[in-house]
Amino acid sequence: MSRARLLEAEPRALAEAAEILRAGGLVAFPTETVYGLGADATSDAAVAALYAAKRRPAHNPLIVHVAGRAAVEPLARLDGRAERLAARFWPGPLTLVLPRRADAPLSRHATAGLATVAVRVPAHPVALALLEAVRLPIVAPSANRSGRVSPTTARDVALDLGEVIDLVLDAGPCPVGVESTVVDLSEPDRPVLLRPGGVPRAALEEVLGPLAEPSADEERPRSPGRLASHYAPSLPVRLDALEVEPDEALLAFGDRVPRGAFATFNLSPSGDLAEAARRLYALLRAADRSGAKRIAVVPIPAEGLGEAIRDRLRRAAAPRPTRESAG
Ligand code: TXA
Ligand code: MG
Repeated sequence: MSRARLLEAEPRALAEAAEILRAGGLVAFPTETVYGLGADATSDAAVAALYAAKRRPAHNPLIVHVAGRAAVEPLARLDGRAERLAARFWPGPLTLVLPRRADAPLSRHATAGLATVAVRVPAHPVALALLEAVRLPIVAPSANRSGRVSPTTARDVALDLGEVIDLVLDAGPCPVGVESTVVDLSEPDRPVLLRPGGVPRAALEEVLGPLAEPSADEERPRSPGRLASHYAPSLPVRLDALEVEPDEALLAFGDRVPRGAFATFNLSPSGDLAEAARRLYALLRAADRSGAKRIAVVPIPAEGLGEAIRDRLRRAAAPRPTRESAG
């Protein structure tokens, strides 16, 4: 039975959501990227409840969401690079990993004990209205069980987490569809792209110059969301398929539509990567439910939002640890 209530995100529901968050509860809300599961970032108990609800490993830190640049001031130190990125891309699908202030009013669990904190100002009007009403920093991971496909509709949140959260604010499908880009600015001379996402690499490099890739041992502690199996449907996923088997569900793109699949879902018939990003998670779920034995995906171009799409598909296809240990 699903205990969560799903409410259209109008002012009364927003006010109630803000009250629940201030009281230490869990509320799922829309952002421009994916639905997030919010909790009061200043409260140890609320953040612990959030990790438990997602069954998320405690070593995987959370993104702190605030309503604007000014609200970051007490939490983290911004250098010139951070200021330029914030001015250009906030509100928007960009997360900055910054040195955490020693006296930041944040639960230690929110940042998994790290000396850094990930912050973002989301662009969705409902997310911003909620953050303004709560007047607290809010941690918000994607509103799915750890390791599974992120939700881009309120219904998908309710199906995955309905039993363990208090309220889902519904504002229809998310306009970007893949998570925020995560850039680590905690070292002075080496900006690192920890997770490709809604802001394409090229737009960031216009401001920062070339972005570094995380080194192998940076990857694990710095951004567990980058680790192998993640964003995973139930069925196995096969990438770069040029042909398809009759027992496979096909994720096609543009005119790359090999014939003979059990079921075919085109990410974007017109070959538009922004549309493909918007539809990616919903179509992964649809393929998962189709009755096929496997999901085959055609090659997706690497430019623009294609980098984030390919990243998520690669993690969806990675060998699976047990669900409970997935990051
Ligand atoms: O678009 C998004 O960012 C969504 C919406 C809801 O805002 N949120 C989201 O959160 O994707 P989550 O928890 O699913 O992913 C957060 C990512 C993880 O890969 C985590 O490891 C990384 O950010 N992260 C958080 N804090 C970090 C830190 N201090 N250093 C390095 N990586 C960090
Ligand atoms: Mg996630």
